[in-house]
Amino acid sequence: MDWRQPGSERFHGRSPRGRAALIDVHSHLLPGVDDGPRTLDEACEMCRTYAKCGYTTVIATPHMSNPAFDVSPEDVRARTREVQAACAQQGVELEVLPGAEVRLEPAMLDKVDSGRVLSLGDSGRYLLIELPRQMMPRLDYLGAQLAERRVTPIIAHPERNIGIRRCPGRLSELVEAGWLVQITAGALIGTLGSRSMKAARFFVKQGLVHLVATDAHGTPPLSPDRTRAVERCISMLAGQQRADALLRKNPAQIVSASRSPESKATAPA
Ligand SMILES: [Fe+2]
Repeated sequence: MDWRQPGSERFHGRSPRGRAALIDVHSHLLPGVDDGPRTLDEACEMCRTYAKCGYTTVIATPHMSNPAFDVSPEDVRARTREVQAACAQQGVELEVLPGAEVRLEPAMLDKVDSGRVLSLGDSGRYLLIELPRQMMPRLDYLGAQLAERRVTPIIAHPERNIGIRRCPGRLSELVEAGWLVQITAGALIGTLGSRSMKAARFFVKQGLVHLVATDAHGTPPLSPDRTRAVERCISMLAGQQRADALLRKNPAQIVSASRSPESKATAPA
């Protein structure tokens, strides 16, 4: 299930102990755009904490196509540059890339075609999709249409979706059809309730998960202790090699797409 291509590690920095670095592909890090930090100072505090936890790169993924918090791709790119510049000024060693958590809606394909939603790392390759909590719609058509556009869909935190929790076979079908799965780090260690924990752990054991991300909305959920606890949990469920894939190698593959020549991503300021 490790879909990382050989050689992807060369794109990324290594932690001081020589291990590949942690990369977060789902974070509400940008100030004043959604239910994440309200100010640039709060965003910088989050970045400082990420660096303490051992992360080198974070993809900022504000809510997009969400009636409560809609934000444009242009705003995300501009805010990302702003946070990156503030980090550089304050000596915080963290790379911040633009992205989005895009809510499932009928107009999604139109928005992909017209550039009104942002992919992870702005690469045009990976789309992080938020499903409704209460139901599990058929996603075959959307998946096929995205595949035609060479876009890989990623389901954000399926452990919260009631339909998937009741019928995990739906998640297996999507994985077989080429969807990737991201679960929330906190769900694994029980901070999001027992049902989410049970589902997240089951998905990891079944080999249905490709990415573990924080989905952080502020500094408090991030800490070196929690980061270590999450890695220990994955390691116990599926082995250390798998923990490495879910926290480092697979996220690195997504980031590497944003550095390819076809990527629309702008260089961090
Ligand atoms: Fe999120």
